[in-house]
Amino acid sequence: MSVWLRDAAQVLRPPEAHLPYLRHSRADELVLEPVDVLAGEAGIALGAPVEHTGFTFDCSGCAVLPGLVDCHTHMPFAGWRAAEYGMKVAGVPYEEIARRGGGIRSSARTLAEWADDEVLGQAYVLAREMLEHGTTALECKSGYGLSLEGERRQVDLAHALERVVLQAVSVTGLLAHAVPDGFTADGWLDAVAGLLPALDVSALDIYVESIAFENEHLARMGALAAEHGRDLRAHLEQFSCSRSVPVALEAGARSVDHLAKLHRDDVAPLADAECAAVLLPGAEFMGAEDVPPARALADAGAICVLATDANPGTSPIVSLPLIAGLAVRRYGWSVREALLAMTLNAAWVLRMSDRIGSIEDGKRADLVVLDGPVEELPYRLGHNPVAAVILDGVIVHVRPDQAWRLV
Ligand code: NIG
Ligand code: FE
Repeated sequence: MSVWLRDAAQVLRPPEAHLPYLRHSRADELVLEPVDVLAGEAGIALGAPVEHTGFTFDCSGCAVLPGLVDCHTHMPFAGWRAAEYGMKVAGVPYEEIARRGGGIRSSARTLAEWADDEVLGQAYVLAREMLEHGTTALECKSGYGLSLEGERRQVDLAHALERVVLQAVSVTGLLAHAVPDGFTADGWLDAVAGLLPALDVSALDIYVESIAFENEHLARMGALAAEHGRDLRAHLEQFSCSRSVPVALEAGARSVDHLAKLHRDDVAPLADAECAAVLLPGAEFMGAEDVPPARALADAGAICVLATDANPGTSPIVSLPLIAGLAVRRYGWSVREALLAMTLNAAWVLRMSDRIGSIEDGKRADLVVLDGPVEELPYRLGHNPVAAVILDGVIVHVRPDQAWRLV
């Protein structure tokens, strides 16, 4: 049964139909005007329906957004690492925590210990929490397997999660996250190459850092991605600057993620490239990382993207509205810039922007109704502004205090 979203104060729409992405220098062209929206299984239809027999949602005073897309998460993972956070705020660096056996290896041990049902149970609850914060599509990654069998298992668990959650899911193989015991970095990449033909992932990912892999491995992962028809994504320039962005661009990366230590000479080439700059202000905030040159990237016309980076180490955050609030404050971005970065542009990273990521006729009806205008979203930091979520034309969440709007 279709849903008529009527009388919204603001509906976020792209300036043109069928845009694959919108560069951030054009973010102020996003339209925020009232228009009725009909959401059904056949997709979105703009304007009030002539005849309507389904549900009606009274959106007076509210903003209607496309469903939010979280294109960088480490789900499904096992357990949390709260004790490490205590060490981190007391001044122990992430690299040192990792060297002491914490960090990625600690989550890898927990993942290996937990049964599949336990891992899926935690991930399922988190995916529901994400949904209630407006996330209607998300990425999952491997990377805590740290053995060939472990990586394969985490990819399988991600697909198992995909089958039970409501959201659209895209699975990435973060096959070079930490160098597994008993391997050199090169030896591990040799091993990973053998996994690839049969691994059901859309993208490959790698972490370049002093405690992980180097630029030469990034280039090699890029070659593997090209050879096997997967996108290349990469965790770069998070804690130290390795000048990895030119290497990633040369390798045809779809996205470069983190960038807190992005070199200023790499801003313009990245902004000119067809490669998204995925910024993760949750990890930056929790880890007291540097602030990336987000204002410069946006002004230079980069395809900017925001995501939660949900993981048990650097970012135990699942709320994209919170991420938007952090980005607006820390980057000096407008609300339109923040929303563009977690809708159309995030969908482009996952190769989904032909179907989702914007409110236009015929696109899948993934929609979020906020409990007020968009200006309140970054301002009421920590408040969950999501009044209702519609996924593929079906109402999947209504916040209890907003139920009166549904007739
Ligand atoms: O995106 N930086 C590398 N990988 C993750 C963190 C993983 C972890 O600490 O468990 C990130 O921040
Ligand atoms: Fe990450």
